[in-house]
Formats: sequence, C-alpha cells, structure tokens
Amino acid sequence: MGGLALLNGKVFVGGAVREANVFTKGGKIARIARSSRLSGEKAVDCTGLLVLPGVVDSHVHFREPGQSHKEDWATGSMAAAAGGVTTVIDMPNNNPPATTAKRLAEKAGIAGKRSVVDFRLHFGAVPGNRAEIAKARGIASVKVFMGSSTGGLLLRRDEDVLEAFKAAKRKGVPATVHAEDDQIVSEATRVAKESKWNDPSAHLLARPVSAAVLALWRAVLASAKAGSRLHILHVSSEAELLELSEARALGSLATCEVTPHHLFLDASRVRLLGSFAKVNPPIRSDRDRTALLRALESGFIDTVASDHAPHTREEKRAPILDAPSGVPGVQTLLPLLLNECSKGSLSLARAVEAASSKPARIFSLGRKGRIAEGMDADLAVVDLRRERTIRDEDMLYKCGWTPFHGMAVKGTVEKTVSRGKLVFEGL
Ligand code: DOR
Ligand code: ZN
Repeated sequence: MGGLALLNGKVFVGGAVREANVFTKGGKIARIARSSRLSGEKAVDCTGLLVLPGVVDSHVHFREPGQSHKEDWATGSMAAAAGGVTTVIDMPNNNPPATTAKRLAEKAGIAGKRSVVDFRLHFGAVPGNRAEIAKARGIASVKVFMGSSTGGLLLRRDEDVLEAFKAAKRKGVPATVHAEDDQIVSEATRVAKESKWNDPSAHLLARPVSAAVLALWRAVLASAKAGSRLHILHVSSEAELLELSEARALGSLATCEVTPHHLFLDASRVRLLGSFAKVNPPIRSDRDRTALLRALESGFIDTVASDHAPHTREEKRAPILDAPSGVPGVQTLLPLLLNECSKGSLSLARAVEAASSKPARIFSLGRKGRIAEGMDADLAVVDLRRERTIRDEDMLYKCGWTPFHGMAVKGTVEKTVSRGKLVFEGL
C-alpha cells in the first residue's frame, strides 16, 4: 500500500503541537519530520490544519447483529470516520448478545467485513458464563450491567459481579461497568410509572443518583476482592465523583469515563428534547454537568467516549417512560471536545489524552492513541478555527438525528486516516 504524506500542518506529538509532516508506510507512522521530500507517498495538504491521533471511542453500540434498523457496522463506522474516530470498541448488548465465544466470533466476522475503521469488542457477562469469558478471543473488556438498560444483560447479585470480575482478571482485561443499582432502578421505575408522571424529569426519578453511587461502591469493593481492573462507564453526577475520590483515597485504582451528552447537553436543551435526551444514566443538573467538565479537565475523569446508542426517531417519539434510552454521538464527540478547547475550558492536551491515548492504554491497544513513529497511522486532521453548526442532515449514521442539532461548534474534522488510508475527507 502506498503511504500518505500529511504536509504543511501542525502535529500533536509528544504532548505538544509542532510544525511537522507525517509520513505513513504500510499503515504505520513511518516518519515525523520537517522535510517534505516525498518518496512515493500521496501528498495530503494540511495547511492551516492540526493532525491529532485518531479518537479511540471505547464505548459504542453499533447494533449489529440484531438491530440493524438502528445502526450497522458500515453506517456506524462511516460516521466514526467523519468524526475523527479511528477505533471503536463495541458493546455486547446485541440481539443475540455477545456473551458466548461463538457469538463474539460471529460478530467480529461481520464487523471485519463492514467496518471502515478499526474495532475491538467488549464481552458481555451474564450469570454463569465465566467459561465463555475464558474462551473468548481478543476481547477489550468484560462488560457488566449492574442495572438493566437496553438489551437484557444484567448481573443483579454481588456474587455474579465478583465472578465476572475474577474472569476478567484471569483474562487480563478490565471490567467495564454500567454502575446503576438494579434494585433501586427497578423499584424507582415502577413508582415513577405508577405516578403517571409524564414529563422528562420522570426519568430522573426512575434512575436516581443514589443508584449510581451504590453500584459504584459495590463495583469498587468487588474489584478490590477480585483484584481486577475496573473502569466505571458514563459517570453522570458530582456525587459519583466525590464517592470515587473517596474510593481512590482508599486505594482503588478504578478509572472512569464521561460521555459528551453528560458534558454538553444542558438542562434547558434536555427539557426541549424530551425522550430524545433519554439515556441511562440520565442527564442530570447543570451543577453535575459543570462538575464533570472540571473533573475531565483536571484528569480525575480518565476517558471520554460517545456511548453512541442510536434508536430511530420513531422509537424515540414514545412518551418518556416508554421510549428506549440512548443517544447517538460517535460523529460529534471530537468536534464537541474541540469546541470546548476553543472556549478555553478544556486543554487540547487533556482532550487528546481522554479521547485517544488513555483509552488506548486502558484497553491495551498497543499501537494506537498517540502519534509517534511505529504507531498505527490513525489520524484525525482537524481545523481548530472553523465554525460549523451540528445538524441532523450531516450525520452519516443510520438513525439520522443528533441531540446536538443546532449547536454551533468551533473545531471541525476535515480528514481522517485509518491505518494509513484516507477514510474521510470533508463534509
Ligand atoms: O442509554 C443507554 N442506552 N444506556 C445503556 O446502558 C444502553 C444503551 C443502549 O444500548 O441503547
Ligand atoms: Zn452504553
């Protein structure tokens, strides 16, 4: 494969931005240099642009197999490419769920044929499937749902959570945890339904902060017992941050993730969106939102991932307590982060760390997440000065809507390179 030469741009390398050209060969970064002499590479002009490591979106739901009316690997991965995402790690709540080694291999077969970006797969834990976890090949993590959400995956009891964490440890992968306590969630949901409360805040009542806090502690304690690595997904409140800081003070090494919708959808937009902003865990108060943003900037929160969880418009039009939970986000993650950088509330170094290098480290993706010679040539070429309004019409994923519609952002993805191949060029 002929290489690419990304010329005349700036490059984020070694934690700083400098003027350089990037040469790729055989899908790898071969050379980062001031010289622009080509030896057979195809020139890609990056004047005025910045070359970043491609985003590692470690939390997506591409829905195939089983729900390809919502998304499939072709549309999902094209949208990823358009968002500067060069690796996705897909969740197991498919139909049928990826909870056996055989189903995992089948899903990898589908993704391998259709994805235009690199991918890995999380493996689903269900009670009693530790032998399957042991057999599964190449998994990024063992995913544990402690509270029920889309799809039927659930570990209700501490014994089962502990078993799953032990199996993850034996496998040498982290446990990734949807930390909402199911006892609280299912009871509170029942009460919310009985109350016939029908405005969007009913969903907040059905999934209170205390459910997240309780599950967080249960997960922290079980991971200490199992000696396993723990990655808490989508923290959504200031309370979880406070509790996690106490857990860390006690010695927990748990890492955590935040999503763009918990960071950037404010309370007024959530009210307007109704069921279209319904997601688990819920989007809470602006106070929570600012606490999450601060914790991302300080490095307390380790990673940002989209939790791209598409549902069709039709499905989302249902009343708040009946509509499915989840919002799409794989295409808008990086522009939203860059916009925050342009506002000065997030440093570029932190954005790159949280979106690329840290997830690559947590999920042991050796050659991804950084720009350096010998790494995979996975690159997002961005324009930090260009402004654009996020619009439903520009989304390349299947469901075709975004909760960020109408939001003006400064910072656009212009080109994306995956393993030395140009997979996206301009919208
Ligand atoms: O809101 C959510 N949607 N939360 C989840 O945990 C699952 C996801 C989905 O798959 O739709
Ligand atoms: Zn998810």
